[in-house]
Amino acid sequence: MRDVPRSGEGLGVRKFVRLPYNAPTNFGLRTTDLEPRTTPMSGRLLHKVAIVTGAGSQGSGVGNGKAAAITFAREGAKVVCVDLSLDRAEETAAQIRREYGDAIACQADVADKSSCDAMTAFAVEHFGQLDILHNNVGIVMPEGVRDVTEADWNRMFSVNVTSMLFTSQAAIPHFETAGGGAIVNVSSVAAMRAYGVATAYQTTKAAIVGLTISLASQLAEQSIRVNAIAPGLVWTPMVEPFVTPELREGRRRSALLQNEGTAWDIAWGAVYLASDEARWVTGQVLTIDGGLTLTTRGVTR
Ligand SMILES: NC(=O)c1ccc[n+]([C@@H]2O[C@H](COP(=O)([O-])OP(=O)(O)OC[C@H]3O[C@@H](n4cnc5c(N)ncnc54)[C@H](O)[C@@H]3O)[C@@H](O)[C@H]2O)c1
Repeated sequence: MRDVPRSGEGLGVRKFVRLPYNAPTNFGLRTTDLEPRTTPMSGRLLHKVAIVTGAGSQGSGVGNGKAAAITFAREGAKVVCVDLSLDRAEETAAQIRREYGDAIACQADVADKSSCDAMTAFAVEHFGQLDILHNNVGIVMPEGVRDVTEADWNRMFSVNVTSMLFTSQAAIPHFETAGGGAIVNVSSVAAMRAYGVATAYQTTKAAIVGLTISLASQLAEQSIRVNAIAPGLVWTPMVEPFVTPELREGRRRSALLQNEGTAWDIAWGAVYLASDEARWVTGQVLTIDGGLTLTTRGVTR
């Protein structure tokens, strides 16, 4: 992956080894692994500038934000890797640069409006424009209805939902300058099915769907598309600490495809929704879950 020279902006010559479609699990694939692929890159996001929030990963693994940032860059985008932790953001940006992509790290707290304004200004100052906003940040608090405190409830809404309002408000003027843009909000299948004990998490993920539809309807006239992704039970560092091997196996078996998703599966959906190939798609929720939401066998605890 690393010895491919960057020839102009065409990154389409890279060679990777693709995981077989019928691989039952990714059990051999640690969350620390970079996705192996063989297909050449198509340059779908060439000439685009993207902000990816939560572009770092907990620990050394590859979470949804990190995978999206790297995949956007592999598809030709210039990426601003935003994270609360500058070290995490820098790690992702450095990985992109090692692959001859273009990325810069940015520290920001997306729950803070002024931080969102600063992050967006930084992106435009550095890369000259803004075309894509990938709202990936989301946190989990495993509290049931009887235990969730007012403070935790408000914190969950602040980080998971209000943040997306703030980042969108900051990005909209730049999208208007560019003649359009794409916002991708990361929701979850938790927005639409039983999910165990995570009251605030589920509620915020459903709120993201509402926010997505509301923004899509208000921004269509400015050619700003707003969509959401609902990932299924994906193997990422976010869930690694509390998913036992038994639960992991149960999660795998609960999907129709009987295999396990990774952050890379989610990243490809984000590439599509962010690209001009989705120019006629707005206000939608793209579920990427191996068929989980079609079954009645949900296993979450
Ligand atoms: N893993 C799954 O099974 C799964 C399933 C459905 C949805 N999701 C969603 O995917 C998204 C994140 O996935 P991930 O794997 O990248 O998670 P992650 O836990 O690795 O988080 C990514 C980064 O977000 C950063 N972050 C946290 N709060 C922030 C803030 N206020 N401002 C800026 N950065 C902040 C963290 O520092 C971290 O580096 C979440 O929205 C999550 O709800 C995950």
